[in-house]
Amino acid sequence: MSTSHVQIIMASHVNGIHRLFGGQLMAWIDIVAAVEAKRHAKSGVTLLTVDNLTFLSPVYMDETVALEANLTWTGRTSMEVRVLTYVEKLDGTKILVNKAYLVFVAIDNNEKPIPVPPFVPLTDEEKKEWDGAVERKSIRLKSLK
Ligand SMILES: CC(C)(COP(=O)(O)OP(=O)(O)OC[C@H]1O[C@@H](n2cnc3c(N)ncnc32)[C@H](O)[C@@H]1OP(=O)(O)O)[C@@H](O)C(=O)NCCC(=O)NCCS
Repeated sequence: MSTSHVQIIMASHVNGIHRLFGGQLMAWIDIVAAVEAKRHAKSGVTLLTVDNLTFLSPVYMDETVALEANLTWTGRTSMEVRVLTYVEKLDGTKILVNKAYLVFVAIDNNEKPIPVPPFVPLTDEEKKEWDGAVERKSIRLKSLK
């Protein structure tokens, strides 16, 4: 499964140095990732943590950005989603401008964590992302100690 979002950068999206405002991109990343997590969990979700939110290149007005969200890992009630953001040039080439990983927890109507269906990685890329997610979770938990 995959969830995508496409956006043309308008005047209201840029900051004082004429680049896409990072907080705006973060909001789009949060939304596309949350929808990907909800589609998998088939329940409400809440954002637990974000890491590797790396801005690789600036984005300017009138450019087209395309966000692609993919589930990378599931635990019992938590899920990790990767969001890749590209600038799409007029000739169709895509330049990666941001990569982020977000962890959501599935919740019921009482806001209590509930189990999610397991995700089974099949392709080499999915297996690599799964292994990366396990490592990221371990680093995250160590950083809290
Ligand atoms: C997310 C939330 C529901 C989790 O509640 P909780 O009481 O910690 O629940 P649990 O201890 O059962 O943990 C739930 C899952 O989160 C994981 N988790 C908790 N803290 C974690 C951390 N720091 N890093 C990674 N995973 C973590 C647990 O391992 C568990 O995953 P699993 O079931 O797949 O093993 C709660 O912390 C919360 O509501 N936070 C605020 C979220 C929010 O408001 N987000 C912003 C807008 S949506």
